[in-house]
Amino acid sequence: MCGIIGYVGEKNLIKVLINGLKKLEYRGYDSSGVAILSGGKIFRHRAVGKILEMEKTLPRKFFSPVEKEKLKIGLAHTRWATHGRPSEENAHPHIDCGEQFVLVHNGIIENYLELKTKLKKHKFQSETDTEIIVHLVEEIYEKTRNVLESLNTVFKEVKGSYAIVLICVNEPGKIFFARKDSPLVLGIGNNENFVASDIPAMLEYTNKFIFLENGDYGFVTDREVKIYNLKNNIEQVRKEHKINWDPVMVERAGYKHFMLKEIYEQPLVVKENIVSRIFAEEINFKDEIKINDKKLKQIKKIFIIACGTSYHAGLVGKYFIEKFAKIPVEVDIASEFRYRDPLIEKDTLVIFISQSGETADTLASLSLVKEYKITTLGICNVIGSTLYREADSTIYTKCGPEIGVASTKAFTGQLVCLYLFGLYLAKIKSVVDKDEYKNLLTSLYKIPAFMEQILNDTNQIKILAKKYSQKHDFLFLGRGINYPIALEGALKLKEISYIHAEGYPAGEMKHGPIALIDKDMPVVVIATKGSLMEKIFSNLEEAKSRNAKIIALINKGSVTKNIDEKVLLPEVEEQFSPLVNVLPLQLLAYYAADILKRDVDQPRNLAKSVTVE
Ligand code: AGP
Repeated sequence: MCGIIGYVGEKNLIKVLINGLKKLEYRGYDSSGVAILSGGKIFRHRAVGKILEMEKTLPRKFFSPVEKEKLKIGLAHTRWATHGRPSEENAHPHIDCGEQFVLVHNGIIENYLELKTKLKKHKFQSETDTEIIVHLVEEIYEKTRNVLESLNTVFKEVKGSYAIVLICVNEPGKIFFARKDSPLVLGIGNNENFVASDIPAMLEYTNKFIFLENGDYGFVTDREVKIYNLKNNIEQVRKEHKINWDPVMVERAGYKHFMLKEIYEQPLVVKENIVSRIFAEEINFKDEIKINDKKLKQIKKIFIIACGTSYHAGLVGKYFIEKFAKIPVEVDIASEFRYRDPLIEKDTLVIFISQSGETADTLASLSLVKEYKITTLGICNVIGSTLYREADSTIYTKCGPEIGVASTKAFTGQLVCLYLFGLYLAKIKSVVDKDEYKNLLTSLYKIPAFMEQILNDTNQIKILAKKYSQKHDFLFLGRGINYPIALEGALKLKEISYIHAEGYPAGEMKHGPIALIDKDMPVVVIATKGSLMEKIFSNLEEAKSRNAKIIALINKGSVTKNIDEKVLLPEVEEQFSPLVNVLPLQLLAYYAADILKRDVDQPRNLAKSVTVE
């Protein structure tokens, strides 16, 4: 996944492009580049590494001549390599032979080798699939002498996913764009316009956005927006959204990393999701769920489809919805679901969970399910994202922008939305006892305060991180509704500290993983009070008897004789304990990674949203 920004207007061009790109660095950061149009010529600069490397080596011509020109136009790109290793030659922007066009791209061109055979007379400078597009535009433009017409022809031939931004020397005031399956948003300013992969890149300058749809292509000038669609080439009118994210929300607000800031935002996220949807003990998804209660009551089965952390949220949702709404739930990893010929009958609801709303496998699964004409529900954190727009209904997790690649507040936002949806289903199906329903709501209301309590005293976690960050392997064990939290704790640790970690259902340990345990292996056990506490304590003792170092999440009053390190947590309703138990695991991963001097917000090889297969 990559980050793109284009600008046309009168501001300081390089400042807008570089600052915008830095807000998109979480989308990919192995190389970057910028291109501007000045005096009828394209100037391009690219570098391997972080955006700072490219910024530090920018030649002077990117500053002086440009700033004398009234209207400035340029584009920039930060890359997460798919085709072609990270290198200056493979960095975007890419340029055609005649240096008439310069282009940046996010996505994968699946038929690029086939298309390359049609471009024999062109000289390629890179190994990328992207470069094919700019030469193809050049080839077709020779006949049409019309950029829009050329884009229309090119994108009827191209297979795969793309969000492209292009500038042509013969159309100096225009920024051209096209998108399919990769996100692209227009930022609408006063006598200036932006095109970018995501909102944060433009938030400093505008809060008015147009979310382009699949097949859209067109251009912006400083005062004009023209959008067409490949299906009919008729001009489209797209809704302009006002997004009231404060630019400060995108900044770190004094925290060392975005991830730490987002960990600390969780009590507020959970609280906001609860209070904004419960009125006089009634849960209300008004404006979100467009499926009427009659149809919801007929649901016989639920699928939950997601990837990574969002998949772990789905697993928690399964336990809760089955227990209270009495509906069978099947949870699938999207990349498996889309290829396994799933059996989906009518009266099924398929829920797609995605923070970004742009994860390729999750979106492909959505398209598959929509072919079956099955009701779909998104749980998503980005208004206007593809999932947000293409699911029949979407519950918005209201977390604000999540910048850290490791998902934290989006996860707890997803959990609370799944809890509320499960309770809503249980209530309308009249399968939950009135008192129990009331007690569950009361318990849920208390959770944000308990989360605050944990976040207000993290010293013990810091000590554990210091003591165990040199270890090479961790095992995380949980049972029941906390088994997914064991998986999530392991994922957090491995994805930002690069320490190998495995999450496992505690009852499964003696079926294999117990062979791994020795005195060098820390075993994190989620042993907070609940229906399975005795069981998990016997698993804990099994691990201890193999000399494991036991790090246990427990409540006050638990027996501690076999525990080497106690993490004392407030006792909460078992069903909602994932919201609390995940916090020390997020913090353990964060502090271990920080001690190991890892790039916490932008861990190696990862991207915030995997918009390619
Ligand atoms: C979680 O910390 C990871 N960054 C990753 O597993 C992520 O949850 C996954 O890629 C799904 O992303 P999404 O929620 O945007 O679809």
